[in-house]
Amino acid sequence: MQSVVFDALVHGVYVVTTRLGDKVNGMTASWVSQVSLKPLLVMVSIAPPRYSHDLIKESRVFAINALRPDQVDLGKRFGYKSGRQLDKFAGLDWLAAATGAPILPQAYAYLDCRLTDTFTAGDHTLFIGEVVEAKILHPQAAPLVFQKSDFF
Ligand SMILES: Cc1cc2nc3c(=O)[nH]c(=O)nc-3n(C[C@H](O)[C@H](O)[C@H](O)COP(=O)(O)O)c2cc1C
Repeated sequence: MQSVVFDALVHGVYVVTTRLGDKVNGMTASWVSQVSLKPLLVMVSIAPPRYSHDLIKESRVFAINALRPDQVDLGKRFGYKSGRQLDKFAGLDWLAAATGAPILPQAYAYLDCRLTDTFTAGDHTLFIGEVVEAKILHPQAAPLVFQKSDFF
């Protein structure tokens, strides 16, 4: 079966951030979903080669920043290069969430999470997080919906 079938699934576009000591990083992710109401759990599916993969495993915190429709440029900034060699936050304003993970104040909303579980699922790892703080920062805006034509 070809991965083109995933075109049938609708996703937002998020910058998933974390902090380990002095190191902050973020990566664009669209494989993000809600998974439970009690407790409030969310899931991000991350491929093991991503720098964020190991950072989140070690820090056990992450924040999901939901981008707005006019923020495709931020999705590209965090989605095409690895934070292993560069600081993707250079020149960007950010705030620390309750967990210490970076929040982009211009994003539509954020969900700040503590890692509760990880599961290997094929060639990705599912990171399950309990939401400890969340806010719609710009209620007059809307979340960005992923479209291939914006990114590839
Ligand atoms: C629109 C878009 C969506 C993406 N979604 C995911 C995703 O859900 N999971 C994933 O592992 N990588 C995803 N990526 C790829 C990572 O963002 C990319 O490999 C990034 O450079 C990883 O950064 P890091 O090495 O600093 O963690 C996506 C990239 C783009 C442009």
